[in-house]
Amino acid sequence: METMTAESQVADILKSYRGEAGELIPLLQEVQQKFGYLPEEAIKQVARFVGVPECSAFGVATFYAQFKLVPTGRNVVRVCRGTACHVKGGARILREVQRRLGIKPGESTPDLKYALETVACIGACALAPTMVVNSDTHGQITTGKVAEVLERAEAEL
Ligand code: FES
Repeated sequence: METMTAESQVADILKSYRGEAGELIPLLQEVQQKFGYLPEEAIKQVARFVGVPECSAFGVATFYAQFKLVPTGRNVVRVCRGTACHVKGGARILREVQRRLGIKPGESTPDLKYALETVACIGACALAPTMVVNSDTHGQITTGKVAEVLERAEAEL
C-alpha cells in the first residue's frame, strides 16, 4: 500500500469536520494524536479549512501546553514530583531517569524513542514514588527498577 503523505492524512481527518472556526482545537488535537506533534504545514492546512488566519491557529497551538510543535519521543515517560512521591525519594528517581535517557524534563531523546516530563501528582500517592510510561503506571519505583521499566517500554516499541 502506498504511504499517505502528511497532507492527505490531514485531509482524511478534515473529512469528518464541517470547516467551522470552533473546530480548530478539536482538529489540532486530532492531528497531534495522529502525528505525535503539530507539523507546521498541518496547522496551516487546518487553519485554511476552518477559515481562521494562520497566525491565529499558530497562536492557539503555542498557547495551550497540550500542543507540541516539535516531534516528541514515542514513549512518554512521566515522573511524579508531587509531595508524596518527593517524600519517598521521587527526586532520586527523576535523576536516574534523566541519567539513563540523557535528557531533562521537557526534552526528547535524539532518536525520538523517549520524551521526559514531570507531573504534579498522578493520583496514586499510596504507591509513591511513581512514574508513568505511556499509559502504564509504575509504583514503588526504586532507582534499580528504572532501567527495567525503560527497557520494557523499549521492547514494546
Ligand atoms: S504525589 Fe506522586 S502520585 Fe501523588
